[in-house]
Amino acid sequence: MTVDPTSDPTGESTSDPTNDRKSESKSDSTAAIVPEAIVRLARSARRITVLTGAGMSADSGVPTFRDAQTGLWTLVDPQDLATPEAWHRDKPYVNAWFLWRVHLMSAAAPNAGHHALAAWGRRPDTDLRIVTQNIDDLHERAGSTVLAHLHGSLFAWRCDRCHRPAPTPHAPADPTERIEPDSCLHCAFGEIRPGVVWFNEPLPEREFTDAVQVCRDADLVLVIGTSGIVQPAASLPHLAGARGIPVIEIDPRPTEFSPFATHVWRSTAATALPALVAALDRP
Ligand code: APR
Repeated sequence: MTVDPTSDPTGESTSDPTNDRKSESKSDSTAAIVPEAIVRLARSARRITVLTGAGMSADSGVPTFRDAQTGLWTLVDPQDLATPEAWHRDKPYVNAWFLWRVHLMSAAAPNAGHHALAAWGRRPDTDLRIVTQNIDDLHERAGSTVLAHLHGSLFAWRCDRCHRPAPTPHAPADPTERIEPDSCLHCAFGEIRPGVVWFNEPLPEREFTDAVQVCRDADLVLVIGTSGIVQPAASLPHLAGARGIPVIEIDPRPTEFSPFATHVWRSTAATALPALVAALDRP
């Protein structure tokens, strides 16, 4: 999935909106004061598309691929585990690693940023659509409906042969090096694999099509906590920018998308989003 971050999977050219760019804060420190230009855009927007990445869940303590390694897996490159080749080479090993992630994510709770987005989505006259690269379920547990899980879900397992859905297997509380995958109850041949999009696998078609659509028809797009290096997800905010739709980036650090954002807010999801939603009603 890691390809040229400027490529456009739809084949359309993207304009460069950097001329409009304003960096609301140059520092990496968090800020609860919402930049006025961002408040104005958020108040007037009815259709809001929110693109979230791993940073959205960082304040919930959800580990990244690398953080998720424990003593058992410290010598393994996680990208080597999250591939169809790794699965076919050693299913029990890959299965155990993903079940450990299920355990970690089940133990995590939505943070104030997830709750703020859910509250924003419940406001009258608001159509807030969430597109996430995250494979956790923290948006849903905060009360949001997620339009698209671009990279699948750790809680939607399926047969590796007939692709029928299967229950999420039991995830042990202690890291275990090898766990035999469950057998498929529907077909005679398959075994149950995590429903996540591995490197070298295509994105789910319906999800990506919906994500493209809501980036094109939004009044406002927010990009939160993604480095913008993994394609094709990284191309989505460019689709909005190309149409002149304002795009706000919320991230404590510069990203690949920062130079193209209409407004950059250097803050964290759990700090910025509650402040922004509170500011919607401010006199
Ligand atoms: N709030 C907001 N953003 C944060 C926070 C926070 N508390 N903490 C970190 N970030 C930002 C980082 O500065 C970085 O820009 O979140 C971003 C995380 O970037 P990545 O780790 O690259 O995550 P993401 O862009 O979601 O990765 C895309 O890569 O590993 C694969 O398939 C996996 O979906 C994942 C994809």
